[in-house]
Amino acid sequence: MNARQTLGLDVRQLRVSYDGFVAVADTSFHIAPGESFGIVGESGSGKSTVLRAICGLAPKTSGTVQLCSDGQAAATLPAPGSKAFRRRVQMVFQDPYGSLHPRQTVDRILAEPLAIHGIDDAETRIERALDEVGLGQGFRFRYPHQLSGGQRQRIAIARALILEPQILLLDEPTSALDASVQAEVLNLLEELRRRHQLTFIMVSHDLAVVTHLCQRLMVMQRGQTVELLSSADLAARRVSQPYTLSLMQASAGFKRISMPA
Ligand SMILES: Nc1ncnc2c1ncn2[C@@H]1O[C@H](COP(=O)(O)OP(=O)(O)O)[C@@H](O)[C@H]1O
Ligand SMILES: [Mg+2]
Repeated sequence: MNARQTLGLDVRQLRVSYDGFVAVADTSFHIAPGESFGIVGESGSGKSTVLRAICGLAPKTSGTVQLCSDGQAAATLPAPGSKAFRRRVQMVFQDPYGSLHPRQTVDRILAEPLAIHGIDDAETRIERALDEVGLGQGFRFRYPHQLSGGQRQRIAIARALILEPQILLLDEPTSALDASVQAEVLNLLEELRRRHQLTFIMVSHDLAVVTHLCQRLMVMQRGQTVELLSSADLAARRVSQPYTLSLMQASAGFKRISMPA
């Protein structure tokens, strides 16, 4: 994959409500091209809804989502909801069991986005995507039930990468996996991010994971932004909100990482 234009994302005053229930309230953040941005918060705080609203899977009540780039005017970049936008912004879901069609082979799962976007070098791309996620060609004609959880999540990552996106939205990509597999998949993601200069938005309820992988993060509670921090601030415990502190205390992994014996 050749060097591609790196894209960032500008989210302003995003609001999502379901039948009057406000799941995300007037959230704004800016992600620079190539940045790795984390979203943390307890279950139900609206993290997944933010990601889903960005890629058009949740109903945006108000606000704007816009791609940005260092060298190009925002207005000339693909508009949210367009096919070109979807090609550049791909999502990896939390549950590797639910997100892959059980009756489709890996080959078919990977071919589908290519067909949707009218890309014809499927053969080369599928081979390359399998290599990129460290699985190789032996996995191409397997069904999801013939894969471990970690392998399934690698297929989900390959499916997201096959369109050569610039932005990956990662919704708790490792929380359904065992700890050792979790570390492998996180390392893979970090390696892919560097290799392809990807921009990441990673949701996690695990502060240790986000501090490790992201440069900046947003803390959410009940649909609201509690604070925006750098990972260095978090590691040094320079946080201003009690809610963020309580999240830190609740995260066993964070204690392990931030307070070495
Ligand atoms: N499709 C939906 N319909 C109604 N309510 C929803 C829907 N999706 C999410 N919600 C609600 O929005 C809130 C935020 O959910 P979510 O974004 O999934 O939180 P998180 O990812 O932080 O756990 C929750 O209260 C959830 O019940
Ligand atoms: Mg969620």
